[in-house]
Amino acid sequence: MTVKVTVTGAAGQIGYALLFRIASGQLLGPDTPVKLSLLEITPALKAAEGTAMELDDCAFPLLRGIEISDDPNKAFDGANVALLVGARPRTAGMERGDLLQANGGIFGPQGRAINDHAADDIRVLVVGNPANTNSLIAQSAAPDVPAERFTAMTRLDHNRALSQLGAKLNVPITEIKKMTIWGNHSATQYPDLYHTEVAGKVAAELVEEAWLRDTFIPTVAKRGAAIIEARGASSAASAANAAIDHVHDWVNGTPEGDWTSAAIPSDGSYGVPEGLISSFPVVSKNGKWEIVQGLEIDAFSRERIDASVQELVEERDAVKELGLI
Ligand code: NAI
Repeated sequence: MTVKVTVTGAAGQIGYALLFRIASGQLLGPDTPVKLSLLEITPALKAAEGTAMELDDCAFPLLRGIEISDDPNKAFDGANVALLVGARPRTAGMERGDLLQANGGIFGPQGRAINDHAADDIRVLVVGNPANTNSLIAQSAAPDVPAERFTAMTRLDHNRALSQLGAKLNVPITEIKKMTIWGNHSATQYPDLYHTEVAGKVAAELVEEAWLRDTFIPTVAKRGAAIIEARGASSAASAANAAIDHVHDWVNGTPEGDWTSAAIPSDGSYGVPEGLISSFPVVSKNGKWEIVQGLEIDAFSRERIDASVQELVEERDAVKELGLI
C-alpha cells in the first residue's frame, strides 16, 4: 500500500533535508511506496514547487506522487503520517504568550484538518517548536484521533547524547544502549546516563560525575544554540535525520534490548502528569509507543525530570489560558 506522508513547512530548511530521505524510502523502509503532500503558506508555494521539481529529478523508485497545497484540509486528506515541521519562530522581543498564540494559530487548524481528513491510522510527529506544546495543541483540536497518535520530537536530543557519550568514551554508537531524554525539548531537558549501558556497564559509572553534570548535560541541552552559533542557521539535516529515526522506529519497532526517546502523551508514569506530551524512554511494538516501566530514579535525576516537566505544565497552563486547548 502507498503511504501518504504530509510534511508542513516543506519549503524550509528541515523540509529540504527531509523530503528526499522520505522519498528514497528511509522513513518507512525499502518496500513501502510513498506519496508526498507538501503543506506551505501561500508565499512559499513556489519554493515548494521547486523542491518538488528536484524530487522528480531524483527519479526515486518508491515515490508515487507529490501534491503541494496551502490548504491543510487538502494536504492532510488521507494522510497516514504527518510531520509538522513549519512553526512560528520566536523573534526578538516576542513574549512567550505571543509565541504560543501564533503557534496555536498554526497547530490548532492543522489538528482539526487531521481530525477531519486524515486516514484512520494517522501518526503525527511535531518538530516545530515549542514542539511538545504544539503537539498538545494539535491533539486537542483532533478529538476523534486516538490521543497517543500525537507525539513530539526529542530524538535529536537523544542522538546528540549518544554522540557526546560515544566521543567521551571513545566507543562506537553501536556500543551504547538505553539512552534516555526526559521532559521538554528545551534547555530544561534531562539526558539520563544512569540507565544507559555501554558494553553492558552503566554509563554514569564510566564517566566523572563533574563531566556528567557540568559538561554532558549542558552540551546536549544547549547543542541547538551551539549549532546556530557555528553554522549561522539552526540544525536542519540532523533534525530531519531525527524525524526519520522517530517515525521509522514508530512504524517498524525498536530493536530488542534497547530503547529510544520520544515525547508521547503521559499515562502518569514516573510522576509525569497524565496527558502531558513529555519525553520518556520508550520502545515501539506493533506500531505503538510504550513507556519503559520500572526504572529506579535517583534523587539527582528526579530533580531534573521534575524541573523539565514543570516547564511543560506551565506551557500547558499558558495555552489553556489562551483557549488553545
Ligand atoms: P524554516 O524557517 O527554514 O522553515 C519553516 C517553514 O515553515 C517555512 O518554509 C515556512 O513558510 C513554513 N510555515 C510557516 N507556517 C506554516 C504553516 N502554517 N503551514 C505550513 N508551513 C508553514 O525552519 P526550519 O529550520 O525548517 O525549522 C522548522 C521548525 O523546526 C522550527 O520551529 C524549529 O525551531 C524546529 N526545530 C525543532 C527541532 C527539534 O528537535 N524538535 C530541531 C530543529 C528545529
